[in-house]
Amino acid sequence: MKTSPAAPTAHADRLLADVTELLGRQLPPGYERALRTVPRHLFLPGRLWLRDGEGGYRLCDRSTDPDGWLTAAYLDIPLVTQFTDGLPSSSASMPSMVLRTLLLAGLDGGGAGAGRVLELGTGTGFNAALLCAFLGEGVVSTVELDPVLAAQGERNLEAAGFAPAVSCGDAAEGWPPGAPYERVIATFSVDRVPPAWLEQTTAGGRIVTPWTSAWCRYGTLELTTGRDGTAHGRFHAFASFMPMQRPRSCQGTGPAAPGHAQHRGVTSLSPWRVAGGDLDAEFHLGLTVPGASFAWDTSGEYAPTRLHIADEESPSWAAVDYDGRSADRFTVTQAGPRLLWDEITTGYTCWEMLERPRIGQYRLSVNMAGDHTVTVETGRGTSEIANPTWRACIT
Ligand SMILES: C[S@@+](CC[C@H](N)C(=O)[O-])C[C@H]1O[C@@H](n2cnc3c(N)ncnc32)[C@H](O)[C@@H]1O
Repeated sequence: MKTSPAAPTAHADRLLADVTELLGRQLPPGYERALRTVPRHLFLPGRLWLRDGEGGYRLCDRSTDPDGWLTAAYLDIPLVTQFTDGLPSSSASMPSMVLRTLLLAGLDGGGAGAGRVLELGTGTGFNAALLCAFLGEGVVSTVELDPVLAAQGERNLEAAGFAPAVSCGDAAEGWPPGAPYERVIATFSVDRVPPAWLEQTTAGGRIVTPWTSAWCRYGTLELTTGRDGTAHGRFHAFASFMPMQRPRSCQGTGPAAPGHAQHRGVTSLSPWRVAGGDLDAEFHLGLTVPGASFAWDTSGEYAPTRLHIADEESPSWAAVDYDGRSADRFTVTQAGPRLLWDEITTGYTCWEMLERPRIGQYRLSVNMAGDHTVTVETGRGTSEIANPTWRACIT
């Protein structure tokens, strides 16, 4: 490792203070040193996009606002560095989330002897640099799908004085040349664990990955691998990361536009209960109603407020309309092979019957054949959560 150019002290101090405050605990010394050692601004492009607080993004351009840009570089916020098809496709993750993930990965005291680590989603290279600063670069590999980002990430790492093994490829395959790993850490979210990650992790090793579903992009999964090729672990209630991308040819066709309506009815289940920001309920629905996603429509085109539900894989759709008056009676329209609102209602009823478990009560086991089993621990014992696609979706 070459000597790294230092982060501006006042900015680095502030970032450390913000991260410590958000995590609610003092960072172990090795992590604190790593955060101080890695100058975040060296990993950022001249144009950054910051959340504008209204669901959009605002540009921060170094060429027109160098001070604002440097300040943004050391804020404890995610910084979007690339858009694809109008959506963020790469970012420098929020430092406190990065640190929280590394803590969950249990890198212990760091330094030599911690074992090999694979980071998935190189992006800017910042996280890989933290790993190098903490563990030493000889044990760190990182893989990025986008060749432009992989090359830039490697240049950023070099400029900051770090040289981990950077590769370009699909992280769903892990990175066999560097295997086996003691730790596999993803920096994008997944809705199932690729078998390659299990294959490439040593027995007793740990896999940490942000979680997502079509309904709810939230949560972090922490798994420990066993000698028999299975891994068991639990979910934690933090982090919302951009989803894993697949190479273009593997992507699905996406939801179909609403077609001919087939079923009309009424429901007393408020759409706000299932899609109004209760992350525990939405997490459960994401596990139990695969492929279903939602969007609110307040344009007034169909109703004062409409919850629109679509399926990733089929032309099924549902709409739940609020007429602006009645809070316990909503009009439902459903079409297509799946009756999506019925599935959501069943999923929500199940969550209520389980006594509204929180994200931290869910457990997941996965084997190399791709079988996923989710259970939830409640005051009444352990219940299995059924998702018909766990097995079928693994390719
Ligand atoms: C949140 S960003 C990563 C942040 C990064 N670790 C950092 O410190 O800047 C997620 C990254 O994952 C990459 N990614 C998404 N899907 C991938 C895949 N299948 N294989 C490898 N990289 C992927 C994206 O291109 C993006 O750069």
